[in-house]
Amino acid sequence: IQVQPYRPQEFIDFTKEENVRAYQDALAKVRKELLGKHYPLIIDGQEVDTAEKLTSLNPTNTDEVVGTTAKATIQDAENALQGAWKAFESWKKWDMDARARILLKAAAILKRRRLEANALMSIEVGKNYAEADVEIAEAIDFLEYYARSAMKYAHFGAAETHWYEGEENGLMYIPLGVGVSISPWNFPGAIFLGMAAAPIVAGNCVIVKPAEDAGLIAGFMVDIMREAGLPDGVLQFLPGKGAEVGDYLVKHAQTRFITFTGSRAVGLNINAEAAKTQPGQKWIKRVIMELGGKDALIVDESADLDVAVTAAVQGAFGFNGQKCSAMSRLIVVDSIYDELAAKFVERAQTLKMGTGEENANVTAVVNQMSHDKIKGYLEIAPQEGKVLLGGEAPSEHDGKPGYYVQPTIVGDVKRDARLAQEEIFGPVVSMIRARDWQDALDIANATEYGLTGGVISNNREHLEQARREFEVGNLYFNRKITGAIVGVQPFGGYNMSGTDSKAGGPDYLANFMQLKTVTERW
Ligand code: NAD
Ligand code: ALA
Repeated sequence: IQVQPYRPQEFIDFTKEENVRAYQDALAKVRKELLGKHYPLIIDGQEVDTAEKLTSLNPTNTDEVVGTTAKATIQDAENALQGAWKAFESWKKWDMDARARILLKAAAILKRRRLEANALMSIEVGKNYAEADVEIAEAIDFLEYYARSAMKYAHFGAAETHWYEGEENGLMYIPLGVGVSISPWNFPGAIFLGMAAAPIVAGNCVIVKPAEDAGLIAGFMVDIMREAGLPDGVLQFLPGKGAEVGDYLVKHAQTRFITFTGSRAVGLNINAEAAKTQPGQKWIKRVIMELGGKDALIVDESADLDVAVTAAVQGAFGFNGQKCSAMSRLIVVDSIYDELAAKFVERAQTLKMGTGEENANVTAVVNQMSHDKIKGYLEIAPQEGKVLLGGEAPSEHDGKPGYYVQPTIVGDVKRDARLAQEEIFGPVVSMIRARDWQDALDIANATEYGLTGGVISNNREHLEQARREFEVGNLYFNRKITGAIVGVQPFGGYNMSGTDSKAGGPDYLANFMQLKTVTERW
């Protein structure tokens, strides 16, 4: 198989009028063709419907139903698992190149349908044009990148072993079996697809359990994988309740691996349940976890403050702060704190609130639970610091009911305050005043999380110290701390942020394979 070297997708430039018009056309097409659509389960290649449904609402106008999916039962989950093991018998024997071809074909289809996927994302989870486009570019990148990664594992002896006289020795990479992939709503295209495509291309069969709030985007991606030629049973589509079918599969003796991206609380519970051996279980379940963050950007006295403000606004308020990588702590040394705070507030004030379809800078958060949770933090904000901007969570905008939250900046938050320690997952930033550089770095590391972090500085010693000592999986200097690109910035966190599996990295597929050493004496 001949492929050009991997190159990430370019992003669409929405400063060009023709690209904006094309996006609006795609929105109209999606409204006409996909709105109100129902996605059933897909088990062994067959559509299976359920008595109960999950309804997906437009968060920026909750009067609008975007569509529905089936809601899997425990019996459906059991059927999906058994069917996947049957499919595994033949899928594991496909050669890597053949499996990779399916991902490449899926990437080609998604490239053709890119604007449609973007538009659906704007309607279902409220992403603005650039946020949606960056995500679908990432989804294509995952397919392209993992297809190429698979090829390097294609042959016996792909990993190096040393010569030993009189014998042939070598390593084989073999798939694990059947696993479950449980994904979040905040990257319902890219993360959902990446967490399915990687184990699949490595030769596993996967039951995908998408997030309840973004079932249509997941269904859209599953359609593309099927159109690309994935055999029946290799990808079992199982929308349903995490606490029901997700939990059932996590605990099941025949589940070989669990790949999970989501909140720390749910992830740690899955980790604990997966560690309990069930009757008849033959293996230690492999668990891959990507969890939350409380990500910090440090600004020191040598920083270019305009660079700092741009990085802070983009990192904090992109997709309303609903990214595991979002900047939720801005740690600034005392000598420039007040000046930076004033500039940050001034820039953030210019952000427009509205819908994803209107291409607003800040839209609505995903659901009622998230809105209520963020409101809880806004209520304690005046006790924990000084609200410099925002602080309200309106339940409507332009006469439409939705889960809106104003971009909020809270100044002089103490390092151990709840606002400085807990993941809020909304457009809320805690500014923390540090005595000096060392104090700033200590504050940044004083969290149980360790996902992304950044430093805005022109001091080489500070940057080199941060390179060694800032405890995060993804560290950025003099730019925003969100927006990792597949293959360019492999992504994954330390500590309570996850198992550092590095999605979009050179060893990611190895998470879904086991090695066999084979020796033949001549
Ligand atoms: P969540 O933990 O609420 O849900 C994630 C998934 O788990 C959903 O599909 C849900 O249905 C399922 N689930 C819920 N309870 C379950 C249970 N008991 N057993 C099995 N499955 C269950 O997270 P969310 O709100 O969808 O996503 C936001 C969270 O994800 C944030 O904490 C964010 O930081 C994190 N996240 C992390 C990364 C990363 O790469 N580290 C990326 C994106 C999001
Ligand atoms: N990969 C996403 C980012 O880097 C979460 O922002």
